[in-house]
Amino acid sequence: MLKHASYKNDPDWVWWKHGVIYHIYPRSFSDSDGDGIGDLRGILGRLDYLISLGIDAIWLSPVYTSPNFDFGYDVSDYRGINPEYGTMEDLRDLLTACHAAGIRLIMDMILNHTSSQHPWFLESRSSRDNPRRDWYIWKDGRKGRAPNNWKSTMGGSAWEFDPVTGQYYMHSFFREQPDLNWRNQEMAEALFREMKFWLDLGVDGFRLDAINLIVKDKKFRNNPLLWGIPFFQKHLYVRNRPKSIKIAGKLRELIDRYPGRVAIGEVFVLPPGEPSNAARYLGEGENGIHLAFDFSLIFSRWSARAYYRAISDWYFRIPGQGWPCTVLSNHDLFRHTNRFPFSRRIEEKSRVAAFLLLTIRGTPFIYYGDEIGMRNARLERDQIRDPLGKKYWPLFKGRDKARTPMQWTSEENAGFTPGIPWLPVNRDHDERNVKSQDKDPGSLLNVYRSLIRLRQRYPALARGRWLPLLNGREGIIAFIRGRGEESLLVILNFSGRSRVAKLQEHIHGSVLLSTHRREGDTVYMQDMKIHPFEATVYLTNWD
Ligand code: NOJ
Repeated sequence: MLKHASYKNDPDWVWWKHGVIYHIYPRSFSDSDGDGIGDLRGILGRLDYLISLGIDAIWLSPVYTSPNFDFGYDVSDYRGINPEYGTMEDLRDLLTACHAAGIRLIMDMILNHTSSQHPWFLESRSSRDNPRRDWYIWKDGRKGRAPNNWKSTMGGSAWEFDPVTGQYYMHSFFREQPDLNWRNQEMAEALFREMKFWLDLGVDGFRLDAINLIVKDKKFRNNPLLWGIPFFQKHLYVRNRPKSIKIAGKLRELIDRYPGRVAIGEVFVLPPGEPSNAARYLGEGENGIHLAFDFSLIFSRWSARAYYRAISDWYFRIPGQGWPCTVLSNHDLFRHTNRFPFSRRIEEKSRVAAFLLLTIRGTPFIYYGDEIGMRNARLERDQIRDPLGKKYWPLFKGRDKARTPMQWTSEENAGFTPGIPWLPVNRDHDERNVKSQDKDPGSLLNVYRSLIRLRQRYPALARGRWLPLLNGREGIIAFIRGRGEESLLVILNFSGRSRVAKLQEHIHGSVLLSTHRREGDTVYMQDMKIHPFEATVYLTNWD
């Protein structure tokens, strides 16, 4: 049974819309047994911390049995737990403890591919007439070459020749991750059964990995080239096929049989995010998945105008009953703090970003460690574990820099492990860690906590309407979040200069939370001076 904080007793409160979701990369969160790898018991041991944040749900990157070629995104048994992370009993204990604390648990679900070690694939590749042959995508070559020009997201052809049966199989990611064939009904039913297994166990939903890649063109047509260069192509025939969107609807039907569960789609489009693609998976809000990530903000440069444009474009695309969500960092696309080279004034920007994430309309996702301002680490070549980084070094150093261990304390290994961490702890952990920020009322950690508390206290922030007032042109984004009589004004200065906000004169507000102002102070908004990198939430008389 879930314990309910009072704000959750409101019948209009829907956890996946109005709550805050915290993304944990289990390998890097907390290690309980000293092998240097984070685990489920480690997460359980940090439950008090999660409660102190006030978050409503955690999403775990995959913990299933896996040869770990892509660190869990290559599953070899959907019903097993990778022993590095613990056991099924540990998972159950974590689920029970989370629920007792009023925290939901979301699993990652990998639908597009399995590991090449998965028994389904081992069978499929064993002979052309194996009953599971058609569970994957097999094709004859063209004159000794790959069947068509499709490219893998990880580089190179999306086809791998398999000498055992003399055909090619398709892989959208690494060759160790063969793509499943969603046109095969038996396969689709089998994967639905794997999901049912977890829903029956009581998990609160799934983040659906690469949902927009699952179906490919029936005719295997070549993708059109961009600028006529074979290296660049428009992924027309392998992404966002109409059938993928239909399957999203079927997934929703399954999930809806379990009240209160949720499906969140990763709509993987590389840069820039195309919000129209993500929005298509939401159906009309009822017949598509519940939430879909749009990564436009991740690809926006730090500018009020660019952020405003990305947010409003995203809102504009969301269908009638659909609901947006917001993400600034993840395990693939790095931490927002220093994603761009030569980032400056990171401390101040992190605060403005936190205010933005937790006050705009839509479900906020916090990537572990962002709440203490963790940075992308600098790693040496021999420290790289991500196969992408190994393959493309030094051109691309991989994704490890945003996956370094959580920084709990200033001690050796940041309190993450008593052993040798699987990835080095970022050197800045002696100054940037949970312990030192916990008691400091002005720390970023406490800004996050205060913002989350504010969302709980003022329903307008979590679920009110959004009314933009300043669209970023002067370096400032300002908007109202309103619900019934309640009206909150948020002002965010993205620039390092003082600005004047030209708002209507009759507005006044009392400060609820601010980077620069005293809580409770009353401010009149006419031509108000905004401090460099100021972020403030006011309770106002706007109607
Ligand atoms: C997206 C995941 O987030 C990423 O980490 C993974 O490599 C690919 N999908 C393949 O599963």
